[in-house]
Amino acid sequence: MIRLPLVGVAALERLVRELVPLLARGDVVLLEGPVGAGKTTLVAAAARTLGVDAAVGSPTYTIAHRYETADGGSISHVDLYRSRDDPEAAAADLEPYLDAGRAFIEWPTQALASLLEGRSCWTLQLDHAGPAARTIGIGPPARVTTAEAIALAGRLLAATTSEPASS
Ligand SMILES: Nc1ncnc2c1ncn2[C@@H]1O[C@H](COP(=O)(O)OP(=O)(O)OP(=O)(O)O)[C@@H](O)[C@H]1O
Ligand SMILES: [Mg+2]
Repeated sequence: MIRLPLVGVAALERLVRELVPLLARGDVVLLEGPVGAGKTTLVAAAARTLGVDAAVGSPTYTIAHRYETADGGSISHVDLYRSRDDPEAAAADLEPYLDAGRAFIEWPTQALASLLEGRSCWTLQLDHAGPAARTIGIGPPARVTTAEAIALAGRLLAATTSEPASS
């Protein structure tokens, strides 16, 4: 797992801009981390990177939202926090979102195991590092080789720690 500091939302956004082009359309992204760690903020940044105009917030009345992306595909945002009392029922509703591809799942549970079988999954672990900073752990799917993961870690570290060029 690659672990990096994220000081501020701008650093998260720069990381997401590097990471999103690496997602294959069928990939699933499991978002782990406590309340307020930045999971929804990350999904919103990913959606913007993919050209989604709609404001992405936590789905309130459903467990998931799907947004059309500029490349003709989609990104799905699943939040299982409110359904954690009945994870099996929630998992039963998710297949269409996973089939549509690029599904980001907040609060994933063991109940997803059979649904995730055969799918290519990234694990992103967000954590608090003080009031205005976070850390992110990145677990790439099996298709990413060790050499590719090392190169990726270098690019992501540069993206998250560099100040944006002023103009
Ligand atoms: N990298 C970051 N640095 C500083 N603040 C951040 C960062 N990422 C997110 N935040 C801030 O943390 C707050 C909570 O973010 P967010 O709602 O995305 O968390 P969450 O993990 O989705 O929480 P929940 O588990 O309640 O759904 C927001 O105010 C957001 O701006
Ligand atoms: Mg959230």
